[in-house]
Amino acid sequence: MARIGLFFGTNSGSTRKIAKQIKKRFDDDTMAEPVNINKATVDDLLAYDYLILGTPTLGDGLLPGIEAECDDESWAEALVKFKGTSFAGKTVALFGLGDQDTYGHEFVNGLILLYDFFKDAGAKIVGAWPTDGYDFTESQSVIDDKFVGLAIDQDIQPELTAERVERLAQADRSRVRFEHLSTTGRRSPSAPTPCRGQGRSHEERARPAARAWAGGFCGRGLDPDSGL
Ligand SMILES: Cc1cc2nc3c(=O)[nH]c(=O)nc-3n(C[C@H](O)[C@H](O)[C@H](O)COP(=O)(O)O)c2cc1C
Repeated sequence: MARIGLFFGTNSGSTRKIAKQIKKRFDDDTMAEPVNINKATVDDLLAYDYLILGTPTLGDGLLPGIEAECDDESWAEALVKFKGTSFAGKTVALFGLGDQDTYGHEFVNGLILLYDFFKDAGAKIVGAWPTDGYDFTESQSVIDDKFVGLAIDQDIQPELTAERVERLAQADRSRVRFEHLSTTGRRSPSAPTPCRGQGRSHEERARPAARAWAGGFCGRGLDPDSGL
């Protein structure tokens, strides 16, 4: 049976598309097919030791759901249902979609909402991702200078998505998996996060971040608790 569950929320379909790309690039039956969180029960999530959870940020820095004016229920409603469930012993990696241009003051804020929920529920959160390669002014989802999960921007940097997903797949081939993803550190006060990497092309800015994340994932000599 698959050991890695892949669940996503979405409004307009981009996060579903990225979840499918992740599944395709992993190309491995240890990862389950992606499931929309509005079709999942808490037992569906608890069936896995490892979870990859994806969300867009919508509304005013919200998770998708009715309050964020989505047509369907999504993460917002799911988390209400999951409240009180222990995720102790589960290892969780997050990916989040956002728009760093139009929403550069609250870029991928949805990530921190999933992070806080599952961390408070006892899960070990892994997969911090460097902020190099993005231009935004502020994000609640940055802890110790890293996003708490992989940030994807299909609106402004769609050309970088394949490389970012590919890095994830390459790390998977190492068979080391989640154990060596860096853990995120203590949450720092939400000081504005400065713009990163201005003056370079998107491709140039993305490369160091992708390499660093892949290195962290593969555990090539890095302390998993020390960050990337
Ligand atoms: C109404 C609306 C509000 C949004 N709010 C944010 C936001 O606060 N922060 C952010 O980073 N992106 C924001 N976005 C951008 C979306 O997260 C982005 O377009 C994402 O790819 C949508 O994913 P989906 O197609 O899976 O719903 C917003 C988009 C819309 C349409």
